[in-house]
Amino acid sequence: MAFFKKNKALGDGLSAETMTKGARLIAAAEPKNPVSEQFRTLRTNIDFASVAKGNVKTLLVSSALPSEGKSTITANLAVVYAQQGKRVLLVDADLRRPTVAITFDVTDNHGLTNYLADAHSELGSIIHHTRMDTLDVITSGPVPPNPAELLASARMTTLITQLRDHYDLVIFDVPPFLMVTDAQVLMSRMDGVAIVVSGGRTTKGALQRTSEILKIAEAPVVGFIYNDQDQKKKAGSGYGYGYGYGYGDAK
Ligand SMILES: Nc1ncnc2c1ncn2[C@@H]1O[C@H](COP(=O)(O)OP(=O)(O)O)[C@@H](O)[C@H]1O
Ligand SMILES: [Mg+2]
Repeated sequence: MAFFKKNKALGDGLSAETMTKGARLIAAAEPKNPVSEQFRTLRTNIDFASVAKGNVKTLLVSSALPSEGKSTITANLAVVYAQQGKRVLLVDADLRRPTVAITFDVTDNHGLTNYLADAHSELGSIIHHTRMDTLDVITSGPVPPNPAELLASARMTTLITQLRDHYDLVIFDVPPFLMVTDAQVLMSRMDGVAIVVSGGRTTKGALQRTSEILKIAEAPVVGFIYNDQDQKKKAGSGYGYGYGYGYGDAK
């Protein structure tokens, strides 16, 4: 908590846009846009990279630092997988800077933290349907004082197993892994982990720490997603997404 307050005070360019307005769901709004095509390519690349790991049903997307595009990418990936007819669940496990409720217009803020904090809470009460038939979401719920503990709990592990059985694919949007331990505690419990690297934001130092952290966290890495946030500046309104493979890209 303190970390994010400090950053806001410093005015370091951290974007709150997706928290206040939601992520831009370009894949749903403009399926013919080249950016939507890039999300479909990303989907194909993730599927391809996942073959070696077996059936990847739980996929965590993280990055070293805030504002590198995790929420934008997870929301659009969820959309393109659902467009393919897969039963998809997007889980907002970024309990510190949640975005999914706003992105998908979920007004009932009953979410993950409610479920994890209350042993009597039922799974059905936190699954929210979206306008897309095969896409459901779990929102973060109220921001708790102890996000990392909640995510590390046995109840979370049981939840992951249950969700895995109910959906073809469960995508987790989580906080940046260099800042807080939330993502790290979840990584080893996933089938696959994809790391976003931002052309405009990810620093050299962060990249150097990345492969270390991924090894410590025993992350089943399926690949790196290159998000060219700089392209916006170069081309006006462009969103650029690409995809790379393996540990080598992060060294
Ligand atoms: N490729 C891109 N081009 C331009 N802007 C982007 C791109 N990817 C993300 N953004 C913007 O950057 C900001 C942070 O993105 P977000 O998805 O919230 O990151 P994170 O979840 O990693 O904090 C948002 O305002 C988002 O619209
Ligand atoms: Mg986010």
